[in-house]
Amino acid sequence: MTKAAKVRIALAFVLAVVAVVAGYLMIPPPPDRGPGMEAAGSLGGPFSLTDHTGKTVTDEDFRGTYMLIYFGYTSCPDVCPLDLQFMTGALYELGAAADQIQPILITVDPLRDTPEVLAGYVAAYHPRLIGLTGTPEPIAAVAKSYAIFHQKEEGVADLATAYLVGHTTATILMGPDGQFLRVFSHGTGPAEYVAGIREHL
Ligand code: NI
Repeated sequence: MTKAAKVRIALAFVLAVVAVVAGYLMIPPPPDRGPGMEAAGSLGGPFSLTDHTGKTVTDEDFRGTYMLIYFGYTSCPDVCPLDLQFMTGALYELGAAADQIQPILITVDPLRDTPEVLAGYVAAYHPRLIGLTGTPEPIAAVAKSYAIFHQKEEGVADLATAYLVGHTTATILMGPDGQFLRVFSHGTGPAEYVAGIREHL
């Protein structure tokens, strides 16, 4: 092998390493929070739950209207109240256009969030906010279909009735046909909600 050939082989090797490293660096990092954006088109699915009046409701009851869904729980100390305040604040700002939108709170704490508990809670935010609960199984299933993580936090409180529930904080807008439209992340202000919702109305 000539010296020139050796140099060409060495150069080809270096270029191959550079290409591999460059390719690796160009891979976008995976999303670390919020519903799986890579599978956003498949978010949502059928559910059958109990609303805050004790009535059974399914996803099909909301066909023809936009669903604005938040997963949370009434004992949440700060995150849920803020998100719900912003989300429902946007509905007030939207005025008559908000009539096309059904705001929904699905609890991630079904054992404590009975229909009665939800009834007192949702009324404080918006007259049309629906609270949905159920037994743990359908709640786990609907949360999974919306890529919402939720888990009772251990060791945060020493009372069995005073625990916290860690959960994904995202508000999900679904179209009148039941198709996923977009996610609003935690901390989205009313004006951003209004702009984001208007894009789809
Ligand atoms: Ni919360």
